[in-house]
Amino acid sequence: MTTAGDWSGKVGDVWADEWPRTERSFADLAPRLTQAILSVAPERGCFLDLGCGIGSTAAAIALARPAARVDGIDLSAPMIAVANARHARANLHFAAGDALTAALPTADLVFSRHGVMFFADPVAAFAHLRRRAAPGAPLVFSCFRARQENEWARVLQDAIGPAPAAAAGYAPGPFAFADRDFVADLLAAAGWRVERVDAVDFTYVAGEGESDTAAIDDALAFFARIGPAAPAIRATHGDERLTLRARIASRLARYATDRRVAMPAAAWIWTARAEGEPA
Ligand SMILES: C[S@@+](CC[C@H](N)C(=O)[O-])C[C@H]1O[C@@H](n2cnc3c(N)ncnc32)[C@H](O)[C@@H]1O
Repeated sequence: MTTAGDWSGKVGDVWADEWPRTERSFADLAPRLTQAILSVAPERGCFLDLGCGIGSTAAAIALARPAARVDGIDLSAPMIAVANARHARANLHFAAGDALTAALPTADLVFSRHGVMFFADPVAAFAHLRRRAAPGAPLVFSCFRARQENEWARVLQDAIGPAPAAAAGYAPGPFAFADRDFVADLLAAAGWRVERVDAVDFTYVAGEGESDTAAIDDALAFFARIGPAAPAIRATHGDERLTLRARIASRLARYATDRRVAMPAAAWIWTARAEGEPA
């Protein structure tokens, strides 16, 4: 489970620190999401990037739609600081805050790269976004498919041991939007008409270096900070930690080739419209 408090705290701090590696992990997905957003983006209006992180998606859309205003908002102030340092465009604005409570203009387009799975109450959150969207405004977002389909996560989980049994009810987190029917139902309940959902397979580059060994070390350093292995590694000490790191490294080695660790990943890209009654 990853909560809003995690993102505005330590998890957000680590993501801000590790941004070159998180960018690299999304690099193969990014152009496909940008294409999906641009295929429905109006030429002008106010656009919202929900959970914009360090701002890459917002910047790509602002560049392609110079007559639009793009607002990127994220719970993590350090990530917004990185976004501001990386991107300066007259039609692009970043702010730290909760996209569900911040005062923003009516949205003519809402989009997000992997930022929508962290709401405590997703129906209420999407209903709120629906009320903030202009009639007919598109919503486009990516999210992970199931852990089992995301080999990068499955391999890490195998190495660290079984995931803790899921608590009853909805738990926000990276795989919380894996179930297509669940997401379709919640969008409908929140007043969004689904136009399409695309299963996108992509390559998740976890490590790079001057040799395959260096790439594995890089991937291990990344996963020691971000993802399911990070808390497991932090919870171990001494020899136990060394053994766990060696076990993860031996799994990652199977994906090391041409000086990078490249692992299969699986996402959904959803496209919907503000054309229903919000809950
Ligand atoms: C997995 S990260 C993705 C970040 C970025 N979109 C990217 O692709 O690199 C999820 C992001 O959503 C943000 N987030 C989650 N809930 C949010 C909310 N209610 N308002 C603003 N940001 C939120 C988190 O702070 C985090 O930066």
